[in-house]
Amino acid sequence: MSLYAIGDLHLHFQSELKAEHQIHGKVWQNHEKRFKRNCEKVMTDDDTLVLIGDHSWGRTLSECEEDLEYICNLPGRKILIRGNHDMFWDAKKTRALNDLYTGRLSFLQDNYYPYEDYALVGTKGFTFEGPFYLNMQGKVIGWSEDAYDHAEKIIAREQKRLRNSFEAARADGFTKYIMFLHYPPTSILERASVFTEMAQEYGAEKVIYAHSHGKARFHDSIHGKYHKVEYRLASGDFLKWVPLKVL
Ligand SMILES: [Fe+2]
Ligand SMILES: [Fe+2]
Repeated sequence: MSLYAIGDLHLHFQSELKAEHQIHGKVWQNHEKRFKRNCEKVMTDDDTLVLIGDHSWGRTLSECEEDLEYICNLPGRKILIRGNHDMFWDAKKTRALNDLYTGRLSFLQDNYYPYEDYALVGTKGFTFEGPFYLNMQGKVIGWSEDAYDHAEKIIAREQKRLRNSFEAARADGFTKYIMFLHYPPTSILERASVFTEMAQEYGAEKVIYAHSHGKARFHDSIHGKYHKVEYRLASGDFLKWVPLKVL
């Protein structure tokens, strides 16, 4: 029995969305076929796969049905967290999604799921992504204050949701945690954030995150051990569509 994770499948099986939302680059060519094949190679039905956001380009649940069906047909137990592109998933209606996909998919939001003696906790998270102002050498010398204020509001909301997740697990007696975020835990300006602080506060062993696409963005946030917590990027294109073995 093993625990795997990956993010950013960005599926678009429903044809009318295909042309509009194609992500370009070799790594994205037939990525859904390669990912399924890799899952079937490394995983069994006893394993758990956490999909950490940006599942589908669909804007409504009906535009995502085939994408979610594809996820249902991957091996093992599937747990999903929200990404910034997952418009089909209203955070306040997570229970309805869990009811609709009972026994097939589990949606993690303000709750947690057990894995052996660990609690799998998480939320979408958020990081400030600019606009930044650069000098001639490309060094950041400022940023949009309005965008920063807006980001702070979303970060506060996500911080509350992450705490709900940890507290739900703690109330059930869990003391060991693996934490999942869609967004990186820190922005390019930060060495720590409310998310890294919460991981430390609860003693999460690992933080797995996604959202960063393309070589230029892979090192926007923390990789490796930092204050006893291990941070791993698990965006699909970074992993070349091989699910990351977490435990
Ligand atoms: Fe993404
Ligand atoms: Fe994203």
